[in-house]
This record gives sequence, C-alpha cells and structure tokens, in this order.
Amino acid sequence: MDPLEFSRAKKAYNQSQKVCVLTGAGVSAESGVPTFRGTDGLWKNYNPMELATLEAFRRDPVLVWEWYQWRRQLIRKCAPNPSHFAISQMEKEKEHFLLITQNVDGLHKKAGSSKVVEIHGNIWEVKCMSCGANFMEEGDFEKLPPECGKCSSFLRPNVVWFGESIPREALETSIEALSSCDLLIVAGTSGYVQPAASFAQMAAKNKAVVMEVNIEKTPNAELVDHFFLGKSGEILSALVSEK
Ligand code: OAD
Ligand code: ZN
Repeated sequence: MDPLEFSRAKKAYNQSQKVCVLTGAGVSAESGVPTFRGTDGLWKNYNPMELATLEAFRRDPVLVWEWYQWRRQLIRKCAPNPSHFAISQMEKEKEHFLLITQNVDGLHKKAGSSKVVEIHGNIWEVKCMSCGANFMEEGDFEKLPPECGKCSSFLRPNVVWFGESIPREALETSIEALSSCDLLIVAGTSGYVQPAASFAQMAAKNKAVVMEVNIEKTPNAELVDHFFLGKSGEILSALVSEK
C-alpha cells in the first residue's frame, strides 16, 4: 500500500460527512465464508442456475434447500472479522452513514452495524412462496423443504436469486444514499453483478470520492479515486484507526 496514497484517502475519510459503504463476499472471506468467484468460490464448484434461481427451486426445492442449509451451517460457525468491525466503527463516527451489502450472512449486523441495507436479502430469513409470510429462523430445518405454518406452502430462503429484482425499498434507500454521499467505500466485491456494479459510477457522478479495497484488481479499479490492493480487514481497520 502506497503510504502517500493511503494518507490522502485517510484525509478524505476524516473530512467526509456522508459516507456510504458497499460490501461484497470479500469482506466475509476473512471470517471463513466462501466467496462466489474466487479460486475456491462457490460458483467454481456449483452452478448458480441449478441452485439460485426461482426455476431451480420450483424444479427441485429439496436440492436448493439442502444447499442453503449447508451454507447456513457453514456460516453459523463464522464470526465477524476486522472488516465488519471497522465498518460498524464508521457508522459511529459519521452522522450520515449507510452500509449497502450484497452479503446474506448477517455478519455486519453481528458486528454492530445497524444502518445497513442487505440488497440480496438474508440467509437466516425465510419467506412463504404463497402468502409472503416471512420470519427469521436461525436453526436447521428437519424436514426439507420447510412449510409455512399459516398456509402450508413451501418456505424459501429470503434471498435475491438470479433473475429476481432487488426489493424496491432496499434499492431506493441505496440509490438515495449513493446520490447524496460525499464518500463511497467499496470493499470485497468483484463488481460483476448489477446493480451494485454500477454504484461506484453512480456516486462518482454525484461528485463523491470513491475508494475501493480488494485483493485483486476489479473493473472499477481504474475509475475510482483511491484503489487499495489488499485485505479489507487490514485496510479498513487502518482507515478508521487513530488519526
Ligand atoms: P464475488 O465472489 O464475486 O467477489 C468477491 C471479491 O472479494 C473478489 O473480487 C475478491 O478478489 C475479493 N476478496 C476476497 N477476499 C478479500 C479480502 N480479504 N479483502 C478484500 N477483498 C477480497 O462476490 P460478490 O462481489 O459479493 O449474489 O458477488 C456479488 C453477488 O454475486 C453475490 O451477492 C451473489 C453472487 O452471485 C447472489 O447470490 C444473488
Ligand atoms: Zn404461507
């Protein structure tokens, strides 16, 4: 990390008043949650079209649920890491703050973040396919697919699958914050999935300073004001640590 570049970024962070953070699977990597597109990423070994679409669920709800139950068991063992804590610290330091996460693991909230929009949903929440009832269930389901207590239809994980839209309120809240922030920090996302992939450009268009942290170059790397190649846990912690 170039120290001069970092001190410029730190100054920009200290001066900012309205901060937005966008995170992806990379911020949970240091907690042991698998990413999607990395070398050991989930989409290297599993086909998203067979596991993360509505058609897949209609075709084989047991298979989809088995995969989600496996991921839930894996994530249950994971604890927040310094990236999550640095971001929850930012929320305390800035009066205007919004965290937009594509992660469904719930680790940001576990680390104390409360101003957070989970644009791809939450893996601990389930939703009825028919009546729309939704609730948190952190335990395992014995019988798959689980059924709705109200109407007996199948319950599904309340996450956004390929081909589905982001819930309107989540998207509106995100766009509003991105249009008014003076700093956007993008961390641990490959930048291939829309609409999050356009958020950096959206904020830059509105004159926000944009910083990005990733262990590899991303499609946005050349466009942002400050790009830091490295682990988000280390870089974000340094950004919020003593002046
Ligand atoms: P990806 O798996 O596509 O990308 C993870 C990014 O994190 C990669 O660019 C890595 O280089 C980076 N990374 C890994 N470890 C890191 C670390 N310690 N510090 C910083 N960066 C690190 O995950 P997302 O961009 O989140 O959607 O993927 C977006 C969406 O695609 C997901 O929400 C999911 C997926 O399909 C759905 O399931 C709808
Ligand atoms: Zn129901």
